[in-house]
Amino acid sequence: MSIKTAIHNGVATIEIARPEKKNALTREMYQTMADALVAANSAKSVRAVLIQGQPEIFTSGNDIEDFMSSPPRDEDAPVFQFMRALVGCEKPVVAAVTGAAIGIGTTLLFHCDFVFVSDESRLAMPFVGLGLVPEFASSLVVPRLMGHVKAAEKLLLGDPFTGAEAAECGIANRVLPAAEVQAHARRVAERFNALAPSAVRESKRLMRRHSAEEVMETIKVEAEIFGARLRSPEAMEAFQAFFQKRQPDFSQFE
Ligand code: COA
Repeated sequence: MSIKTAIHNGVATIEIARPEKKNALTREMYQTMADALVAANSAKSVRAVLIQGQPEIFTSGNDIEDFMSSPPRDEDAPVFQFMRALVGCEKPVVAAVTGAAIGIGTTLLFHCDFVFVSDESRLAMPFVGLGLVPEFASSLVVPRLMGHVKAAEKLLLGDPFTGAEAAECGIANRVLPAAEVQAHARRVAERFNALAPSAVRESKRLMRRHSAEEVMETIKVEAEIFGARLRSPEAMEAFQAFFQKRQPDFSQFE
């Protein structure tokens, strides 16, 4: 199983476990994560959700082979079900990031409530480098978090950044030694066992209320452009370059 799910002591854990492909996310994996989030949201025994990867990699983002062979076709595609399930999760979601978090590995963090990163984590949103555009409302959230010029470094140039920088700009709560990240994140998730569950849910809803509509609308607008770009010659060149382990050559494009 590339996604492992478990419920223990009030915490529903979603673990990305496909280390041989650097935890790249396939359609099936998005579907499993979407289903797990929906189930956690309605399960009485669950007070919080924990999303984690492997010690050496959180996720390398969308599986690039899937981008080529089975791109998302409509709003019901597993990736969009996952996005809606995460944005719509009424319970606190905690992310434990060890290793690299690339593409949606970074953008999913904007929709979690607590994010803990390791001192060796590297985050990146290399959409443009793949001939694509930002997704999961990152075109809205990133400029708001850090201002346009810093956002341009991350979203136009696709520059990677450290866990420490993620904490400085408000993407992450705390930077911890890699070996401590998952245990710390779990302890925070378990704190919700002692809190009034409906007060937590209502408070999360109030905190997200102002941006909820904008986020959903941005996801939709981005998805339309992203979907078209997946079929573009620029993206094809980038995907082929990735598998041929070379730099893409965009010199012939206008
Ligand atoms: N989709 C599909 N396969 C992926 C992948 C992805 N997103 N990321 C890694 N893999 C595969 C590689 O093709 C390779 O497969 P192989 O062993 O069959 O050749 C395997 O996972 C190991 O990856 P590799 O690149 O050799 O590992 P690395 O340690 O040198 O680099 C990363 C790790 C994460 C930095 C690098 O794999 C990477 O940049 N991945 C793509 C990130 C990306 O652009 N994601 C999409 C964002 S929208």
